[in-house]
Amino acid sequence: MNKIEQAARLINNGEVVIFPTETVYGLGADATSDSACRKIYQIKNRPGHNPLIVHCDSIESIAKIANISKIDPKLIDLWPGPLTLVVPLLPNSPICQTVTAGLSTVACRIPSNPIAQQLLQSCQKPIAAPSANISGRLSSTCDAQVKDYFANKIFLIENDDHCSIGLESTILDVTTTEPVILRHGFYTREFLHKHLQKDIAVANKDSKVIAPGMLLKHYAPKTKIRLNAQQLRPMELGLAFGQVLDEVSQFNLSKQSKLEEAAQNLYRYLFILDQKAQELGYNSIAIAPIPQHDLGIAINDRLSKASE
Ligand code: TXA
Ligand code: MG
Repeated sequence: MNKIEQAARLINNGEVVIFPTETVYGLGADATSDSACRKIYQIKNRPGHNPLIVHCDSIESIAKIANISKIDPKLIDLWPGPLTLVVPLLPNSPICQTVTAGLSTVACRIPSNPIAQQLLQSCQKPIAAPSANISGRLSSTCDAQVKDYFANKIFLIENDDHCSIGLESTILDVTTTEPVILRHGFYTREFLHKHLQKDIAVANKDSKVIAPGMLLKHYAPKTKIRLNAQQLRPMELGLAFGQVLDEVSQFNLSKQSKLEEAAQNLYRYLFILDQKAQELGYNSIAIAPIPQHDLGIAINDRLSKASE
């Protein structure tokens, strides 16, 4: 039995496994089992009111759990990929209450990563999976990082390489007349606006429509971070972008100032710098400015939540 089959068997037996996706690693369990999904909350130390994303292998599988009859087919064209849609649950949906935290909607995604796809096909179940990290901390985009969080306690399907997108999926609520972005990601507001030929709203803390997770502290390393840094201060480690901080930093998110490359590297480099800062007693990690356009919007969103 290979690792994917072993993981599928564990999921079908009500256990939790870690698997890579193209965005970040997921901590997955059978989305139809309350007892299995409760384990996810315990392991992550996640507040019970914060619902989970359900991963499916195909649109046909999503149609068995949620009402997708009103979704714009142009959105469905973006699957598989780094997009999560919040849609109404079907009245007799097999998804358990622990996943939705009692809401009448469910967040769904079809991941494109081949390991995630094979796992979903192999277990023939929808998999509920938040990012594989302790609640509030950085999401994981490489094997070393999930191993650091879970110290070989949870079965892991290794990826060998890092996650190709590196930031969590864009979450779009399509239960309202105007779609609302609940979390920025690879698919930006501008892209979705052009793609759908529709206005797209963006949720904030005061909106009617929110993701419960928006209100929680997030994406934080143990070490303090300082944003928009132009120079290093004493006892700081630096994370460069383009030429800013380049000469004084060990890591550059993207020497050529490419935002997609920066997103791929962000959590991995922060993880390594955080470990180093904790070991050697540095006070903070200084991060060069990231331009506020395209994927930079999602990167800055994560960084500002990490520095709150
Ligand atoms: O890329 C991703 O989305 C990764 C990979 C593993 O798929 N998953 C991920 O899950 O980032 P998590 O749990 O870290 O973030 C899920 C977010 C939370 O903020 C949660 O509040 C929101 O989705 N959410 C889940 N169900 C929702 C619903 N029915 N309505 C509104 N927000 C929801
Ligand atoms: Mg998360």
